[in-house]
Amino acid sequence: MKNLFQNIATPFYYYDMDLMQRTFYNAISEAEKYNYQIHYALKANTNERVLQTALEYGFGADCVSGNEVIKAVESGFNPKKIVFAGVGKTDEEIEYALQKNIFSFNVESLEELEVIGEIAKKNQIIANIALRINPGVDAHTHKYLTTGIVENKFGIDRSDILKSIKIIFNNKFLNFNGLHFHIGSQITSLEPFIELCKIVNEIQDELNLKNIFPENINLGGGFGINYENPDKELIPDFKTFFSTINKFLKIRNNQKIHFELGRSLVAQSGTLVSKVLYVKKGQQKDFVILDAGMTDLIRPALYGSVHKIENYSSQSRNTFALAKYDVVGPVCESSDRFAEQLRLPETHRGDLIFIRSTGAYGQIMSSNYNLRKNAPAVYSDELIQKSRLAV
Ligand SMILES: Cc1ncc(COP(=O)(O)O)c(C=O)c1O
Repeated sequence: MKNLFQNIATPFYYYDMDLMQRTFYNAISEAEKYNYQIHYALKANTNERVLQTALEYGFGADCVSGNEVIKAVESGFNPKKIVFAGVGKTDEEIEYALQKNIFSFNVESLEELEVIGEIAKKNQIIANIALRINPGVDAHTHKYLTTGIVENKFGIDRSDILKSIKIIFNNKFLNFNGLHFHIGSQITSLEPFIELCKIVNEIQDELNLKNIFPENINLGGGFGINYENPDKELIPDFKTFFSTINKFLKIRNNQKIHFELGRSLVAQSGTLVSKVLYVKKGQQKDFVILDAGMTDLIRPALYGSVHKIENYSSQSRNTFALAKYDVVGPVCESSDRFAEQLRLPETHRGDLIFIRSTGAYGQIMSSNYNLRKNAPAVYSDELIQKSRLAV
């Protein structure tokens, strides 16, 4: 692997396409056991190779902006498998998605419902509506990653469900096609999902009593991954995830269950590869200064998130001495830090450093702050092919 990386300018995102394919295959095979439909959440990573792989495996697309809907359509996703959430859809975004006849607008407020109704009428096109309900479930994840508790901006309050359905039934350009939930991201316990299933059962019982039978239930995404020890769980345990849902969710006749998975599908396939620019001895700490910074990977600065960091170059040295470092980037911000007081093999200028589990919410969240360039993508299969041709 070392030879493969030697001549590539750092930093770059390395994607293990074999792992990505195995992950997609595993997820889709486990979901198919219950006839569940997975929509790949574009927000995690919109690289064309990733989208094409998702398409190959039969995923639909979950979009949270108009541009993501455009991207999904242009990449070849069938609009009949595209769902579109987001609290602030603009009129133009709604009109585009409507004209493409997408599977559903996951509607997040009563006002949005009225606006979609007006735009649908103006265009004389029926809009498919799933109501995104805020179920009041605490996902027990980072506060910036929770979306299903009442103080979050997402979704329609449970007490407004009937009012919303009435609005839909009163407008012939609106078609009620189901309920949508998404309680947060990086949820590592199954408990919040079990709680969600129970609430969905309750809501459905209430609706059924009023002769309302949602055709589709979308439970969103959020299934978490092992950031601390990725090698222990390169492919998340989709089998347990889907079988747990199957155990706790009461599915009604002819009902289809949907998911919007992002992180669990692509995170472990990505590694941010960076080079050590300097090892700086401070008064109290030593710093490993990388050529990758928060503009390449903002998660640690934004959420205080932990990624496993490895000194790849040290593997070929015969020294086993460890030292403690703050691993930081070159950006002019103190929050530009990937790890604090991390134990690493003794590290030197020029060493290659791997920041693991960065396939989701990594490259996609890059910025050009400090006028920095964005780290490009390098795909394992293309790299191997290239190295073969070079021999
Ligand atoms: C509406 C919606 N669906 C799906 C996802 C994907 O979540 P995850 O990547 O945690 O699976 C998100 C991300 O938070 C989201 O906002």
